[in-house]
Amino acid sequence: MRSRYFCSMRIDIITALPKLLESPFSDSILQRAIKKGLVEVNLHNLRDYGLGKHKQIDDYQFGGGAGMVMMIEPIHRCIDSLKQQRNYDEVIYMTPDGERFGQKMANGLSLCKNIIILCGHYKGVDQRVRDMFITKEISIGDYVLSGGELAAAVVSDAIIRLIPGVLNNETSALTDSYQDNLLAPPVYTRPADYQGHTVPNVLLEGNFSLIETWREEKAWEHTKKRRPDLLP
Ligand code: ADE
Repeated sequence: MRSRYFCSMRIDIITALPKLLESPFSDSILQRAIKKGLVEVNLHNLRDYGLGKHKQIDDYQFGGGAGMVMMIEPIHRCIDSLKQQRNYDEVIYMTPDGERFGQKMANGLSLCKNIIILCGHYKGVDQRVRDMFITKEISIGDYVLSGGELAAAVVSDAIIRLIPGVLNNETSALTDSYQDNLLAPPVYTRPADYQGHTVPNVLLEGNFSLIETWREEKAWEHTKKRRPDLLP
């Protein structure tokens, strides 16, 4: 049977450490999304575009200072070869000084058709890469990771689960924490009584309108307690 979902997305990730990114895409929801053809994720080893016999991709920084800088030419070659094959909506660079990633940005990116994500390493990339090729710079938080790979996996996961058809029940992405600026309400499963710790009665009684009201109240209370900054 043909899939009833016609939209698919393509993510091209450019990295010096492709192995780091293999496992997040080979399990669970992301793997299922790839198998269903809803998303295509391609890992490109920057080394394949490196210079000379040693496939060099980094060099000392001009002006001195500790740490290597990723060179422009291998990145340019890789981005060019991708752009020759299709148009891209965004060329993203993962960096701790980028725009802070959140649910709204994930929602927006999930509507893209093709995106490139470049993972930084060492001291980062030559500034001219950012000036010439990058359309969006993203940080996943105010801390520094050893490279952009884990951040790229986080961003890809948050985007892919929003693509229609990826989650079994499409509404479940809409009820995630942060979609409505509310944190998600608590959830329970069997047993209804675990060592005297019981599930709220309203969830057991089958009145769906009461359950909905209870969930809204709990989401509100939880947000007020943990993240009052999200509330109007
Ligand atoms: N690379 C290193 N740290 C990062 C961060 N916090 N967000 C995105 N990319 C990064």
